Amino acid sequence: MTATVKLPPYATIRRDEDTVVILDQRELPFAVRFLTLRTLEDTADAIRTMAVRGAPLIGVTAAFGVALALQRDARDAALDDAITTLATTRPTAVNLHWALARMRQVLAPLVPAERAQAAWETAERLRNEDAALCHAIGETGLPWLQAAEKKRAGEPVRVLTHCNAGWVATCGIGTALAPVYLAHQAGIAVEVLASETRPRNQGLLTAWELSVAGIPAQVVTDNAAAWLLANGVVDLVIVGADRIAANGDVANKVGTALKAFAAHTYGIPFLVAAPTSTFDPDCPHGGAIPIEDRGSDELTHAVVRTANGVTRLPALPDGIGTGPNPAFDVTPARFVTAILTERGAIAPPLAGPWCRSH
Ligand code: MRU
Repeated sequence: MTATVKLPPYATIRRDEDTVVILDQRELPFAVRFLTLRTLEDTADAIRTMAVRGAPLIGVTAAFGVALALQRDARDAALDDAITTLATTRPTAVNLHWALARMRQVLAPLVPAERAQAAWETAERLRNEDAALCHAIGETGLPWLQAAEKKRAGEPVRVLTHCNAGWVATCGIGTALAPVYLAHQAGIAVEVLASETRPRNQGLLTAWELSVAGIPAQVVTDNAAAWLLANGVVDLVIVGADRIAANGDVANKVGTALKAFAAHTYGIPFLVAAPTSTFDPDCPHGGAIPIEDRGSDELTHAVVRTANGVTRLPALPDGIGTGPNPAFDVTPARFVTAILTERGAIAPPLAGPWCRSH
């Protein structure tokens, strides 16, 4: 058993008396700022505007949002309203619904006077559980890096990832980056290529958090993946997930599927790292996963993060129209080499009943 990694350097979410403090991801990696959430509305807004993001973390944040709501009003109608408000903030990541279902299961049977304290305790439990799940996912993925190290014979293992599925997106050491952190801790030389992840540039968060941990990381353009995979630059692709359908189709940040297709073409393992709370047993296949469209604003304007703050600059001249802006895409199960979970690795396509037991 590998020793626990001393990460994350900042708590992504924590309770502070009757408020919740989150790491504000909108200004990362240029500024480390924290945002205090006092109400249900603050929490819903933080998720919607992506001050907080990443499937496991938005689930835990929503749980804390229920606690914030119930400390003001814990009657049945308030509980229903809190859960409905939070459930409609972002549609794709199923962890949000999973966490809200856990909250309802615990809180609905209680009398209102008991609910606020139970909500705080349950949200804390989900947060701690997430940290443990991340570590277990890392343990599941570590053998892939050990095998790649042998093949590399002295050269660093190269991992390509997309979006940010590290500690910034969770309450622990991340999902896709958890095996990387454990490999680094085990003395394996590992380097990460972080694809930019337009239009919101979550790849910068990945490169930043890895460099904070002393792991070499370089940003590459999203469109470089096929060339990098074709030319032996990458040993493994590891990404996170927002929802995994019962047949093993995977929804993750838009651009993920293209990497999977290229990895399949060039014979590079394509690994998806996610806790089992990311499986949606009620969703038969990827076509049934609701895909969030974040509107035209992210295309008409570039959000530029600088040392002086966040600036919105026009990116298109007037008169040029925009198309859809899906925030996620679906990788068909046949392109996924393995799904790394806290319970071990699973090779898709999944037998439906496997994830029906959760
Ligand atoms: O829109 P985002 O930034 O919330 O999307 C996040 C992703 O797609 C991540 O890869 C996924 O949530 C896994 S995070 C551990």
